[in-house]
Amino acid sequence: MSAERAMVLLAGKVHPRVRERVEAEFDAVSIEAADAGLLSDETRNRVRGMASGTRISADFIDSLPNLEVIANFGVGYDAVDAAHAATRKVMVTNTPDVLSDEVADTTVGLLLNALRELPKAEAYLRAGRWASEGAYPLTSLTLRGRTVGIFGLGRIGLAIARRLEAFGLPIHYHTRTKRSDVDYTWHEKLIDMATAVDTLIVIVPGGAATENAVNADVLAALGPQGVLISVGRGTTIDEPALISALANRTIAAAGLDVFAHEPNVPQALLDLPNACLLPHVASASVSTRNGMADLVVDNLKEWLAGRPAITPVPECAGFDRGSS
Ligand code: NAP
Ligand code: 8YV
Repeated sequence: MSAERAMVLLAGKVHPRVRERVEAEFDAVSIEAADAGLLSDETRNRVRGMASGTRISADFIDSLPNLEVIANFGVGYDAVDAAHAATRKVMVTNTPDVLSDEVADTTVGLLLNALRELPKAEAYLRAGRWASEGAYPLTSLTLRGRTVGIFGLGRIGLAIARRLEAFGLPIHYHTRTKRSDVDYTWHEKLIDMATAVDTLIVIVPGGAATENAVNADVLAALGPQGVLISVGRGTTIDEPALISALANRTIAAAGLDVFAHEPNVPQALLDLPNACLLPHVASASVSTRNGMADLVVDNLKEWLAGRPAITPVPECAGFDRGSS
């Protein structure tokens, strides 16, 4: 079977460029949810590749006996059961690097917005209050004099660190393994880093290893001037503990791009004046999302043509295309 005629499943909401290219280059089938009941037996047997924008369970993977590759739209692939796919020798790919600078830029913007209240100041102007009431109140928080702790110093974490270093701020980080290529201060434990800094930026992958890692103790350790910025995955933050910490002013403010149960955001968070909230837009520019879309389709093309994947996830990085 040639790569051009391989059947590729578009599972969940997919980026228009992924759809356009998959429809042009493969035999495409779309389903709104990753539910085997939505596919005929004949289709299930024919599917060789999948472009995913939704949760992909072990059961769904097992329902596709000739599946060879799952190309995830996003660098974070916690929604795909990659460990199970690897046991089936199904390749899983993600979209690293092409979005790192965009996400790092957005993170710095979110940090400044949370500290200097820029969205609120603009709303004040648009409501005519500058003219009627005078200058917007001075912000109690500033970036000046802060010490930043980055939870996750990978591709994106490092891009954030480089930017904030240029802002003149000292950088600390917490990862499982100390990096030998940076001079930033490493902490073996997240709680120790939270004690040493007042600005915590979370950019670790989601999943069991990081679930609720930012808990009440970590937030308390940041102190009353503390600011939390979360751009990794919502599951890493204990959201009820964060809501309490913001309400009680255990910490001063938060900026969040990701949430535990997207797209639903708890009313208690929406009600908090010291929370700056974005609808998961860190990578959401046309150019960056197009770059991600192209990488999704290029990974499918390579793997289905019998060549190595461009960006395999670590669980599948050692796959030999021909191994069983
Ligand atoms: P990456 O290069 O793989 O970096 C991940 C970093 O997290 C590494 O430094 C890793 O170091 C650390 N880490 C992983 N597990 C850890 C743990 N249990 N405890 C402590 N540190 C841990 O990934 P990336 O490209 O920077 O992306 C990071 C994440 O950002 C993605 O997985 C995704 O969830 C999220 N993201 C969000 C958006 C958005 O739109 N908001 C956009 C892109 C990415 P060690 O392995 O040494 O621990
Ligand atoms: C996307 C992301 O918003 O890459 C990731 O891990 O979270 C974001 O870039 C998401 O993958 C697709 O909507």
